Amino acid sequence: MNKIFVLTRKFSISTSQNAIKTVTVIGGGLMGSGIAQVTAQAGQTVTIVDLEPEILNKAQKSIQANLGRVAKKLYKDDPGKIEGFVKESLDRIKISTKVEDSVNSDLIIEAIVEKLDIKQELFNKLDKLAPEHTILATNTSSISVNAIGSGIKRKDKFGGLHFFNPVPVMRLLEVIKSDHISEDTYQTMMEWGKSVGKTCITCKDTPGFVVNRLLAPYSAEALRMYERGDATKEDIDIGLKLGAGFPMGPFELADYTGLDTNKFVLQVMHEMTKHPVFEPIPLLDKMVAEGKLGIKTGEGWYKYKK
Ligand code: CAA
Ligand code: NAD
Repeated sequence: MNKIFVLTRKFSISTSQNAIKTVTVIGGGLMGSGIAQVTAQAGQTVTIVDLEPEILNKAQKSIQANLGRVAKKLYKDDPGKIEGFVKESLDRIKISTKVEDSVNSDLIIEAIVEKLDIKQELFNKLDKLAPEHTILATNTSSISVNAIGSGIKRKDKFGGLHFFNPVPVMRLLEVIKSDHISEDTYQTMMEWGKSVGKTCITCKDTPGFVVNRLLAPYSAEALRMYERGDATKEDIDIGLKLGAGFPMGPFELADYTGLDTNKFVLQVMHEMTKHPVFEPIPLLDKMVAEGKLGIKTGEGWYKYKK
């Protein structure tokens, strides 16, 4: 096995050159900070935009810690390079609370809250403010990409770039073809994905794209099995890990991605497909209403130390 392949099995390391040199990521939460990290570690300049300075500071801290993990692995035979790698990557990351001041990039990726109207409003604004050549992309988990971009003029320069959590570790990127995306934009997005170390697959703008279309029914059935009392959540998690080779069981994964994200994905996919497997799950709704969203709130299906 060659060295780059071994490294990319664990982390996102660039294997390609591409036309995108500057990137803006809107939303500095779980996903946005990961996307910014892989962009910076691939040698590109990136600006993270979020609503409050505290959120941006938290994003910078988590990126620094995660860059350290990546560097330790990358330079295990040459530890003298670790500090330089982390510093140079961090130096490529700027932060801002103002979208208006942060649109001069070749690519803008949105990773904000999973709400259609808020995403549409943001894209309409970006379409007006960003330079003509700028490609706009959404990291939505489940909402229709076409619906998100319905109000913009540059429909040929718009699509989905769907990353997976944790972004620095998960090697997949789904490139979602919107109805009016140009071949040039699509190829640029594929090439950029490779440049940040991802293996890209393509999907039409269909509910859940490839991975969530398959993961959501699996996760929903696990929750229903627990709700019915068929098995404990611990045993369901152990079953899928030891019996099917999953790295995490469905309850551990839900805590990791966020129960709110889980609920949104099911809701949107139910609206789009009307399939009964995506119907609301009362126990999940109750957990979300109680603010038990998983690791990020300290409690979900399991409890976590803050
Ligand atoms: N940044 C950098 N490195 C990280 C990291 C991060 N955020 N998180 C973990 N790592 C590294 C660790 O340093 C560790 O490296 P070494 O093996 O070299 O020590 C390695 O990844 C494994 O981490 P851990 O030992 O902490 O934990 P683990 O072995 O249990 O792996 C995991 C953690 C990678 C998250 C693994 O459990 C996993 O793959 N889980 C499934 C995740 C998954 O399915 N994600 C997709 C969710 S669906 C989605 O994202 C789409 C959506 O729209 C909702
Ligand atoms: P998150 O809550 O961790 O982060 C969202 C961030 O966006 C927050 O920091 C919030 O302050 C910020 N924000 C909200 N509105 C904003 C605005 N108008 N301008 C600037 N910043 C704004 O959420 P997340 O888990 O990172 O998810 C972000 C997106 O990525 C969602 O669309 C989600 O569906 C998608 N996604 C999530 C996962 C996952 O596992 N969590 C995986 C793939 C895709």
